[in-house]
Amino acid sequence: MAKTVLVSGGAGFIGSHVAVELVQAGYEVVVADNFSNCDRTCFEGVQQILGRKLPLVEMDFCDAAAVERLFSDYRIDAVIHFAAYKAVGESVDEPLTYYRNNLGSFLTLLETATRHGGCNVLFSSSATVYGTPDKLPVTEDSPRQEATSPYGNTKRICEDILRDCVRTGKGIKGIALRYFNPIGAHPSALIGELPRGVPNNLVPFITQTAAGRREVLNIFGNDYPTPDGTCLRDFIDIVDLAKAHVCAVARMLDGKMADPYEVFNIGTGRPLSVMELVTAFEKVNHLKLNYRFVPRRPGDVVAIWADPSKANRELGWRAERDIEDTLKAAWAWEKRLNGIG
Ligand code: UD1
Repeated sequence: MAKTVLVSGGAGFIGSHVAVELVQAGYEVVVADNFSNCDRTCFEGVQQILGRKLPLVEMDFCDAAAVERLFSDYRIDAVIHFAAYKAVGESVDEPLTYYRNNLGSFLTLLETATRHGGCNVLFSSSATVYGTPDKLPVTEDSPRQEATSPYGNTKRICEDILRDCVRTGKGIKGIALRYFNPIGAHPSALIGELPRGVPNNLVPFITQTAAGRREVLNIFGNDYPTPDGTCLRDFIDIVDLAKAHVCAVARMLDGKMADPYEVFNIGTGRPLSVMELVTAFEKVNHLKLNYRFVPRRPGDVVAIWADPSKANRELGWRAERDIEDTLKAAWAWEKRLNGIG
């Protein structure tokens, strides 16, 4: 019988791509979302890609009674937890909102799962836990550093909560995936990134500028100690990233974990500068972007990219899509959203 994977925050950018890949790999998927930071477009897109309906539970993961109902109604073999706030700047202004929501939802999930005899839990973490790394690329053994934002701190704390729960031996097994910079969209252009308001992240800002929804792309800093003066990042295609979740879930469910709590970097291992990304976007999509250089953005790390060899080796996963295809997909999605032919 197919195993069932609960995806909290499964209607969002990463969650929707993960739901597609899980179903295509043969899992049953239950999506839970409160639509606080996404609309229904992506969930509908998921169903369109799959050509079938998926169970959707509209609920808040901080609501203990609702989480309890979920675990009573479904026989859940694994949970992938995305339900969390993610805007770095907003978290600085509203730390309590971030701690309440991001820690509260995760604690509720783990308490409920423990009461139900345990579960396999995959936590959506971030390379932000490495802060400004001393050595590049970063491996999973690179030291975590003090978080530069409450958002980043919630990722670090949730990793620790998961590790400590696993250590009790009460049936929770855990994997934390540390994402580098997820970008792009599904090749069908039916799902993709849909930020509310002004995007904080680079690629949605680029695509919205290309679509004429933003006048100019600000490139934050061209005086960094890097080859072209702009920051270096490890941009990972969203479908590749989603596939890493399928590999991690399989590892848990097939009893292949080397340790009941594991951490993996999910990145390409190839640094690309902000300027290189902008130039590649223009080239593959045959357009000119209106951009300008502005001062550095406070809190930005100069350079960070992954050593993904542990994930390559242990999960049997690697990033496969070319950056060109990723940037074409990002633009195809934005065009579709804006009705551009
Ligand atoms: C941030 C978060 C990371 C989170 C990720 C989600 C930190 C320090 N970073 O990563 O935890 O997982 O978002 O995707 O907490 N840029 C511009 N102009 C723009 C937007 C961005 O030049 O309009 C530059 C930034 O200065 C940066 C690069 O593009 O150098 C990437 O920025 P962004 O997409 O916001 O991601 P990160 O800051 O790397």
